Amino acid sequence: MRVIVTGGAGFIGSALCRYLVGECGWQVLNIDKLTYAADQRSLASIEGAPGYRFMQADIADGDKISHILDDYQPDAVMHLAAESHVDRSIDGPGDFIQTNIVGTYRLLDAALHYWRNLPEDRQKTFRFHHVSTDEVYGSLGAEGLFSESTAYQPNSPYSASKASSDHLVRAWHHTYGLPVVVSNCSNNYGPYQFPEKFIPLMILNAMAGRKLPVYGDGQNIRDWLHVNDHVAALRLVLQHGTVGETYNVGGRNEARNIDIVHQIINHVRDLSPHRTLPPDDELIEFVADRPGHDRRYAIDATKLENRLGWQAQYSLETGLRDTVAWYLNHSGWWQPILDRKYQGQRLGVA
Ligand code: NAD
Ligand code: TYD
Repeated sequence: MRVIVTGGAGFIGSALCRYLVGECGWQVLNIDKLTYAADQRSLASIEGAPGYRFMQADIADGDKISHILDDYQPDAVMHLAAESHVDRSIDGPGDFIQTNIVGTYRLLDAALHYWRNLPEDRQKTFRFHHVSTDEVYGSLGAEGLFSESTAYQPNSPYSASKASSDHLVRAWHHTYGLPVVVSNCSNNYGPYQFPEKFIPLMILNAMAGRKLPVYGDGQNIRDWLHVNDHVAALRLVLQHGTVGETYNVGGRNEARNIDIVHQIINHVRDLSPHRTLPPDDELIEFVADRPGHDRRYAIDATKLENRLGWQAQYSLETGLRDTVAWYLNHSGWWQPILDRKYQGQRLGVA
């Protein structure tokens, strides 16, 4: 397979490139604008691989994307490029509208043009895979799960922009026949995640003995999935998913934020016994809630499990422990980010 991955220098995109090139032996062209969230060091393990190439480009630059498609002649586009942090979308929604909506539109348009000019046999097998989030479905109460038919009710500027992009992808299939597949995944965690996100921020703060800022009452629930499980699902959806359909991806690993925080502190204590950390109650600080904070996300992944044979391999317990160990052993990756890009300050208080 020869694929273009957009956003391949980000957290999930880099895991996808490492998996497709390093483990599946595919040819991958990574297109990334290299925003603050990108880090090419996350791709070091495949940088010299013959199947891997990188090109800096903005998905909203339609002409450039068209040229890249014509030159590279991919069998598929896997679209991950996005602005991805809810808190930043509260502070500045403009970039989210531009990349997630306008950028997806330009990419779709370029892909449609490219697809129409392919010979018939390659048109049949070409896929545009749109990678999205469960946040488009809004917030759950104590009961129930998001299924592929749950109505869209996005609540944040981020989730509204992703929902818009999902609708555009759907329309490009129904109106123009572009062969698309869509996946909506729950919260990811794992190595190389930018430390503005909950789990890496809590790990790095706990390691440094800094306060761990828990929004609101800490009872919000997320359904955590290890990024390696996500990228395995993406490959299955791309290769075996039915055109025009959506697949929900989630690991059946629901947890309250406050419980994740206690688990992280325990893992740091356990894996790094020379550190003397204050008691949990002194480390944890309940701070003002995020505006519009969704209460609970939980994915019903039955369709993906039954039709495509996917199973999450990581339990939250082992995945979280591995992730804490990774951050403990990779200060060379995260320290320059803390020095130059993001110092852990609170975002999204509007
Ligand atoms: P990320 O913020 O870590 O990475 C995004 C990447 O996209 C960065 O490398 C950035 O430079 C690039 N990018 C941004 N704007 C671009 C543009 N205009 N043109 C080209 N490249 C651009 O995000 P992530 O967490 O890896 O998420 C990847 C995708 O998966 C996103 O579409 C996100 O909505 C979706 N998703 C994320 C999660 C999660 O928990 N992180 C869960 C479900 C779905
Ligand atoms: P986040 O990683 O931003 O993902 P999302 O908002 O897309 O689910 O946040 C995960 C959860 O953690 C969410 O309920 C907000 C909460 N949170 C905190 O309590 N403190 C923090 O410092 C951050 C960044 C998030």
